[in-house]
Amino acid sequence: MTKLTELLNIKHPIILAPMFLVTNIEMVKAALDNGISAAIPAMNFRNPNDITKAIQEIKQHIDKPFGINIIVNRSNTKLNAQIEACLVEPPAFIITSLGNPKTIIEKAHAKGIMVFCDVTDLKYAKKVEQVGADALIAVNSEAGGHAGCTPRNELIETLTKNCKIPVINAGGVSSSSDLRDVLKLGAAGTSIGTLFIASHECKVSDKYKNALINYGKNDIVLTRKLSGAPTTVINTDYVKSIGTKPNFLEYLINKNTGIKKFAKAILMRKGQNKLSNAAFKATYKTVWCASPAIENITELKSVKEIVEDLVGSL
Ligand SMILES: Cc1cc2nc3c(=O)[nH]c(=O)nc-3n(C[C@H](O)[C@H](O)[C@H](O)COP(=O)(O)O)c2cc1C
Repeated sequence: MTKLTELLNIKHPIILAPMFLVTNIEMVKAALDNGISAAIPAMNFRNPNDITKAIQEIKQHIDKPFGINIIVNRSNTKLNAQIEACLVEPPAFIITSLGNPKTIIEKAHAKGIMVFCDVTDLKYAKKVEQVGADALIAVNSEAGGHAGCTPRNELIETLTKNCKIPVINAGGVSSSSDLRDVLKLGAAGTSIGTLFIASHECKVSDKYKNALINYGKNDIVLTRKLSGAPTTVINTDYVKSIGTKPNFLEYLINKNTGIKKFAKAILMRKGQNKLSNAAFKATYKTVWCASPAIENITELKSVKEIVEDLVGSL
């Protein structure tokens, strides 16, 4: 029993992590069927109404707790619609990324939805705790996606010592002994992404899945070509050929929304395909996001088998 299993009333202290364009409804259902929780990014649904439908579909499959991940800063132009979609059909929890979660916490709590906030340091953790977060997702320097700067153990120790709400680790867990270690340090549980990309239920391309098997932890690099913020990716020949720093247009477009409109206007004038190829060679389809956890991926498995391997010796 951990604080996370208590909080969510689940068997094992694991959340199958929200992953942009990767986590899907089948993975969530399989996670819930096997005693862990899961969360899907709201951004994985083009139309916010589809978030409500997805929540309904998962609830019809099984009555277990899962979450929706919402980016709460200005870059998310669908923020209000995504919150509304969750209020119509409440998930058990919302995971917030970036920005100030105060408003979303107030709205979510009014509907009985818990809010867990992604944090990378103590200062921000104290801030979200103060505005009512129910738990922290401690994103460390080994996490996939937008990794933090602080090593796993140091971040867990700092946050558990200085914050009262549960600390859920994210990053640096790819085996049952890693899981035991973070629980021993006082983490309430862990959010795991990369391992689950190599699952049968995940619908990314076979090339991406094979890369998870064939590359190792030393092949993970940070690129700023996807979102502007450093993102962990596999250093394939393609990534090597395009580099990891944004070109001028990518830089402008990622910098702020006002300039996005301006850049779009340039694209219209100059011939969309040519310029957009030059500006955006790197997309989540051509560049594969993953963490050093790939070191422990040797074959494709079902979500059930991945969970069993992780909790085997708990
Ligand atoms: C492909 C990929 C996409 C991700 N997308 C998101 C996202 O949309 N929102 C988010 O809060 N975290 C995202 N993350 C971070 C995960 O939620 C989680 O913190 C991370 O995967 C934990 O590290 P691990 O991959 O080593 O297990 C992403 C991670 C990966 C690997």
